[in-house]
Amino acid sequence: MREKWSSTIGFILASIGSAVGLGNIWRFPYIVGLNGGGAFLIPYLIAVFLCGLPLMMLEFVMGRHFKASVVATLSGIRKRFRFAGFFLVFLMGMILSYYLVITSWVLAYSLFFILGVTIPFSAFTGSYYPLLFFLMSGIMSFVVVRAGVKGGIEKLSKFLVPVLFGMLCMLLLFSLSLPEAMRGVVFYLTPDFSKLFNPFVWTAAFGQAFFSLSVGVGIMLTYGSYMGEERIVKNAVVITIADLLVAIMSGLVIFPIVFSFGLDPATGVKLAFVTLPPIFQKMSFGNFWGAVFFLLLFLAALTSSVSMLEVPVATLIDSYGFKRKDATWIVSLVVILIGLPSALSYTALQLELFGKPLLDLKDFAFGTIGIIAAALVLSVVAGWFLDPGIIFKEIKGGRKTEKLFLLIIRYFIPFVLLINLVARVIKPD
Ligand code: ALA
Repeated sequence: MREKWSSTIGFILASIGSAVGLGNIWRFPYIVGLNGGGAFLIPYLIAVFLCGLPLMMLEFVMGRHFKASVVATLSGIRKRFRFAGFFLVFLMGMILSYYLVITSWVLAYSLFFILGVTIPFSAFTGSYYPLLFFLMSGIMSFVVVRAGVKGGIEKLSKFLVPVLFGMLCMLLLFSLSLPEAMRGVVFYLTPDFSKLFNPFVWTAAFGQAFFSLSVGVGIMLTYGSYMGEERIVKNAVVITIADLLVAIMSGLVIFPIVFSFGLDPATGVKLAFVTLPPIFQKMSFGNFWGAVFFLLLFLAALTSSVSMLEVPVATLIDSYGFKRKDATWIVSLVVILIGLPSALSYTALQLELFGKPLLDLKDFAFGTIGIIAAALVLSVVAGWFLDPGIIFKEIKGGRKTEKLFLLIIRYFIPFVLLINLVARVIKPD
């Protein structure tokens, strides 16, 4: 008997837990910083509501209709798409293998702040401690997924998502009370329309929207397969808005801090790990605020890692008849093994390929190019080969809404994704 969410709220919180992750709190503010502040919000909102949200609904529709994980669902649409399913599962494993590395960094930093010890990022990553934290993060995700959909993922999310929201609100109040908070807010929210003529600002927005909403790689499809009679459109809108809200609030936390301490808002990837920790150490009650910030990042990352792990685990259960316990063991071991080189890429061993740390390379190949390619495959398969009647039955709109939805998923989303893919290959950031 297939597992099910025990309640609608459990399903919503688990999906929010998956969507809200490092992408919202760590990645979104630095991408906004690199892409000119407020101007970025316009393409981002368009990307979220015109592409991300419809794709999320589509994943829920497929998951609930076929009551199966990615491979079984895609081969249920057409036998020959089985391989597309394998591609998605492979990609998910690869993304999880380095996502866990960053998760382990935030876990380490939460502990450092709780213990009140100061360790610069380069000294930390240059040691072998990251390996230990990497294993710990992998084990935590393993324990949750092994406990099952209801007993593990749903339970964890019901507890952590509200806690996470509370912590974010606390940080927001603190940040907005800083002396130069308003300058940060103005940078963040004032749109510079000239930026909108730069096509790469748009591609950054679309890539970020897919990553942040956890769509395109089968996570929401897998979560959708555990749904009961929940309303798809309404719930997808709630999940999307919650994800957006957390991203926007995270910017409101970060930019006031950055401006109040005279820092460059466009430091990119390093913003959270290199720029912020010394600031927390300088401010009063800095260890407390540092601990809250990194703990928040860690909890968000954990609920997302769990959702990524569930994709290959569910595939082994559905398509190969494994027991959950065994499937979780196997997938976790494989993911940890393939993640080890990326966990080692910033240590003294400095594992690199083509002059780039393996972690960065994986993020580019799988988290940037791969995720867009996967979303393209998923939208084409669902848009062109899934019986539209199945979609309409679930979406329950009028004729006009149905037509518009079909237009979006058949033409608009694949077109946008194709442009994105080309742009990313031409200019890899
Ligand atoms: N959606 C997850 C995140 O934003 C993967 O980090």
